[in-house]
Amino acid sequence: MKQTILMAVVRQFGRPRGAAGSVAGWVMAHRDSNRLRNSWVAALLDVRPEEKVLEVGFGPGLAVAELSRRVGPSGHVYGVDHSAVMLRQASRRNAAAVRAGRVTLIQGAVDRLPPALDGPFDAVLAVNSLGFWPDPAERLDDLRRRLAPGGRIAIVSQPRTPGATRNTSLEAARTITALLQSAGFSQPRTELLDLAPPVACVLAVNPGR
Ligand SMILES: C[S@@+](CC[C@H](N)C(=O)[O-])C[C@H]1O[C@@H](n2cnc3c(N)ncnc32)[C@H](O)[C@@H]1O
Repeated sequence: MKQTILMAVVRQFGRPRGAAGSVAGWVMAHRDSNRLRNSWVAALLDVRPEEKVLEVGFGPGLAVAELSRRVGPSGHVYGVDHSAVMLRQASRRNAAAVRAGRVTLIQGAVDRLPPALDGPFDAVLAVNSLGFWPDPAERLDDLRRRLAPGGRIAIVSQPRTPGATRNTSLEAARTITALLQSAGFSQPRTELLDLAPPVACVLAVNPGR
């Protein structure tokens, strides 16, 4: 019974819905490894005051909170997630910044981004989300076109499959690097955060050609 409930919550991570989705969001917001990986990626992306940043698949909005602190009152953080439950949780978590017009959160799918997200952005990120996207190479190419020349992208993966190891994370990083390169990004580099399993973050740049 306990196992069945646990599996119902795990299945929610790709698109949290209903009561089980709210529990999945609560788990994401409170799990230490989730909190750490989200603040880690904001630091790796070197997000600075006044920048415009887009997060795809913001979940409960941990990275959005950290990013809006970093961009300050003259910057702007945009987020898109196809889950209504995540939109509610992330909007609550970032209520003050949303009210102040410094954060814009939208319910939508990465393959049908609304005109409000045309950009250009200084940085784009996705944390444990790309694995759920349809045709990720095409999505990354589309995101690159929304970045300013020289704009940065960070794609993060912490494999949650049972028995995942450092090798699983490194394999994920290789796959992400290949996808970014085929989408026209340059200067890919991988960083690892030593959790169990490690979090892999692949950073790259829009050469703007
Ligand atoms: C595993 S959760 C990670 C949430 C958050 N980034 C974090 O690390 O706490 C994946 C998130 O990506 C969103 N997502 C998955 N596929 C998506 C898509 N095609 N378009 C928009 N959002 C998507 C899900 O709704 C979910 O909130």
